[in-house]
Amino acid sequence: MDNQQDIGLYLHIPFCLSKCSYCDFFSIVTGNEGLKRRYITALIKEMEIYRQKKKDISLSTIYLGGGTPTILDGIQINEIISSCFSNFQITGNKKMEITIEANPGTIEIEKSKILLQSGINRLSIGAQSLDNRVLKKIGRVHTKEDFLASYNAAREAGFSNINIDLMFGLPGQSMAGFEKTLTGIIKLKPEHISLYGLSIESGTPLELLIAAGKIKLPSDDLSNDLFVMAIELLKEHNYEHYEISNFALPGKRSIHNQIYWNDKSYLGLGAGATSYLDNKRYHNYQDLEQYIELLNYGILPVEYQEILSMRERMSEKIILKLRMMEGLDKNDFFNQFKTSVEHVFGKELYTLKEQGLLAENKTRYLLTKKGISLANNVFTEFID
Ligand SMILES: C[S@@+](CC[C@H](N)C(=O)[O-])C[C@H]1O[C@@H](n2cnc3c(N)ncnc32)[C@H](O)[C@@H]1O
Ligand code: SF4
Repeated sequence: MDNQQDIGLYLHIPFCLSKCSYCDFFSIVTGNEGLKRRYITALIKEMEIYRQKKKDISLSTIYLGGGTPTILDGIQINEIISSCFSNFQITGNKKMEITIEANPGTIEIEKSKILLQSGINRLSIGAQSLDNRVLKKIGRVHTKEDFLASYNAAREAGFSNINIDLMFGLPGQSMAGFEKTLTGIIKLKPEHISLYGLSIESGTPLELLIAAGKIKLPSDDLSNDLFVMAIELLKEHNYEHYEISNFALPGKRSIHNQIYWNDKSYLGLGAGATSYLDNKRYHNYQDLEQYIELLNYGILPVEYQEILSMRERMSEKIILKLRMMEGLDKNDFFNQFKTSVEHVFGKELYTLKEQGLLAENKTRYLLTKKGISLANNVFTEFID
């Protein structure tokens, strides 16, 4: 381990009210309060072990993700955040960004106030769509009205930094319908918007429904048109498109997520969480009972670790940096790897430029407009 390490801390809360048909994030549906209590105790134990083992960790951000972290009550969330403060040093004097993901219907004014008092200062609400028909098709349990009530409650309680998650390419989504969702969201003036193209994950109920012909998706062309329209509309309303799926008002980019995209270190705690420290990736067990039991014995619940080869680290860096609209800085790559990106990936860079997916200037490589739409094709070029 290096000397003092500034890292982002991710805490995984693997509980949901119900499972959405498209989702393959690790979470279970449970109302078992005893299990939640044992999980929180284990999570805090995991922090304590890291405090003892790695005294040089200092936090620059905290992110509670899931699952649905706001399924926990305010007192439980407060307990988790104060344990972070008592177990880790904090980087700098500036107020640190602390984010929590929330599902519509799981926060109201009183709970929002408790979250703010605990130190949480950024809320990320998963709206996905403002079309109740579309929400139903993807198995969301909330409506547009539930979302608006949660958003307004958070604002009234005093949240001044809110992200809204949206998705495009959803079943039943039309150009007019999606535009209505976007204009409805823009009217609310959230500081940040994440916009994800629906990805069909293997083994999800949605995959089976599509295979059985019970659900139809918009065509690839329509999905791409939805994305292009969204980029234009958000730009017109002062949102900077700074990462493929992320848009922010000036000064409101996500500090925590930029740690991932800038290939910096992070510590992930909780069942199924991953960490990236000293060029090694650690994967926690994705099994609640095993996770809790190991921590009860004082053992870190790491199932396996991966040491990335030099080439893997280079590929990762290129992909992460190309996700950012500022692109890959050639000097930055050279300084980190002591070789030029052209020396290692000359053929791939040439092909992508020929295909009009990548642009090059004196200092950087960047995705073109076409490259943004076909980003996955670009990224696979760098993976062996
Ligand atoms: C960790 S998830 C869950 C956050 C929260 N539980 C919720 O559902 O609102 C964060 C975001 O990833 C996006 N997401 C999840 N599964 C996806 C998929 N299969 N394709 C595209 N986006 C997805 C959704 O926009 C979701 O809000
Ligand atoms: S999308 Fe969010 S609420 Fe739905 S199952 Fe996944 S984590 Fe849970």
